[in-house]
Amino acid sequence: SNRIMLGPLVAAIDQGTSSTRFLVFNAKTAELLSHHQVEIKQSFPKEGWVEEDPKEILQSVYECMDRTCEKLTQLNIDISNIKAVGVTNQRETTLVWDKETGEPLYNAIVWLDLRTQSTVERLINKTPGRNKNHLKTGLPISTYFSAVKLRWLMDNVEKVHEAVLSHRAMFGTVDSWLIWCLTGGKKGGVHCTDVTNASRTMLFNIHTMDWDPELCKYFDIPMEILPKVRSSSEIYGLMVSCLGDQSAALVGQMCFKDGQAKNTYGTGCFLLKNVGTKPVMSDHGLLTTVAYKLGRDKPACYALEGSVAIAGAVVRWLKDNLGIIQTSTELEKLAADVGTSYGCYFVPAFSGLYAPYWEPSARGIICGLTQFTNRSHLAFAALEAVCFQTREILDAMNQDSGIHLSQLQVDGGMTSNRLLMQLQADILCIPVVKPSMPETTALGAAMAAGAAEGVSVWSLNPEDLTEVTSEKFEPQINPEENNNNNIIYSTILLPKVLSSAIL
Ligand code: G3P
Repeated sequence: SNRIMLGPLVAAIDQGTSSTRFLVFNAKTAELLSHHQVEIKQSFPKEGWVEEDPKEILQSVYECMDRTCEKLTQLNIDISNIKAVGVTNQRETTLVWDKETGEPLYNAIVWLDLRTQSTVERLINKTPGRNKNHLKTGLPISTYFSAVKLRWLMDNVEKVHEAVLSHRAMFGTVDSWLIWCLTGGKKGGVHCTDVTNASRTMLFNIHTMDWDPELCKYFDIPMEILPKVRSSSEIYGLMVSCLGDQSAALVGQMCFKDGQAKNTYGTGCFLLKNVGTKPVMSDHGLLTTVAYKLGRDKPACYALEGSVAIAGAVVRWLKDNLGIIQTSTELEKLAADVGTSYGCYFVPAFSGLYAPYWEPSARGIICGLTQFTNRSHLAFAALEAVCFQTREILDAMNQDSGIHLSQLQVDGGMTSNRLLMQLQADILCIPVVKPSMPETTALGAAMAAGAAEGVSVWSLNPEDLTEVTSEKFEPQINPEENNNNNIIYSTILLPKVLSSAIL
């Protein structure tokens, strides 16, 4: 069959918070040829704690690879044409394993986890004008990032403590864990990470582009347990390279120019704007982070990032905790049945509030309930919540740069919800543009890996932009009506949630 003539293929392992995927693309046309997805279990052993099983994560990667390759073979596509595999991953999630046995020493502590809240409060108090860290890392001290999770593991898990003392411990985010396992594990696996993932640990200096001895000392973390930091597009071993999922989405959306931005609706929601080769610090609660470094000798590009902790996670909560839907896809229909929240508002601050507030002790609320409110209104309020929070971070971004984004490029699982996309355009009062191939995160990772192997001709050159087809959602509601709604959310509700911290 002519399928066999496809030429080189590139692939991506996309290990997200809620699921793992393996995707294979045509390296010349970027056409998605096949993929497989497996959901990942999350455990909540205590209030505020979120863990995942490192072995289940690894198994899910193997399962997705196997199933995708089977599907390709059925399509008569020769899998030996896969020339590069990129890894892209949920960032910040923290693991420690034993390099001699290859065994994880505890569950992965997921980025959303709040167990380090008191540590964070103590650190903030003992660091007058915590700006010192902020300038080096581009990050506020928060439960979100890896260093405090690693500190917790060293202080509270005997096995981790012992492994550190006996020089057997390896720390890594999910990318490092997967790459180490995939390149041989205890028989000589490569212990590395890339600059984008490293920039989310609070141990990495985004100016020198290396681990920072002073920061490691501050968190009392021995540098020998850290992975080697590489660029996001080079061969680490067996065709692999990696970049954090939000960076990969930026690359997959071809946001290579200063000022270009994308918003990804995954478990959380992450708006990243490319600011070029010099880091820009935010005055409005955004993070400064490494966007990508596409090759050892290429310059690093930076991004401003607005992170919202809970987006898709609110759908899973409505499903698993309240049982008002059986599957995520039902949400759209349920909300569309009423087409309004009928004055009900939902702030899903399950894991504190991230950008622009960075308040770990905030908790969620649902308000404006009447006898009339039903699950459809609640579903609608949940979708609106995602949109209002995106508006908050977009406003912060616009204020920081003084330039207003004229449209928003979006991607991620939730963007298949057309009601959400329309609501988002209405609430932002700007068009929302969604590529017809929604797997931009995986595409970005595959592009970076393909470029490292020299197989993607369409790869990383903005001039090569292949015909990316997209769908545009234009705002339909008058801006005034929306602004009122938005003011209720941002000036009345969010401060309530923030002050619930004090109660
Ligand atoms: O910072 C966390 C982020 O990388 C997780 O992304 O797609 O799993 O919500 P996602």
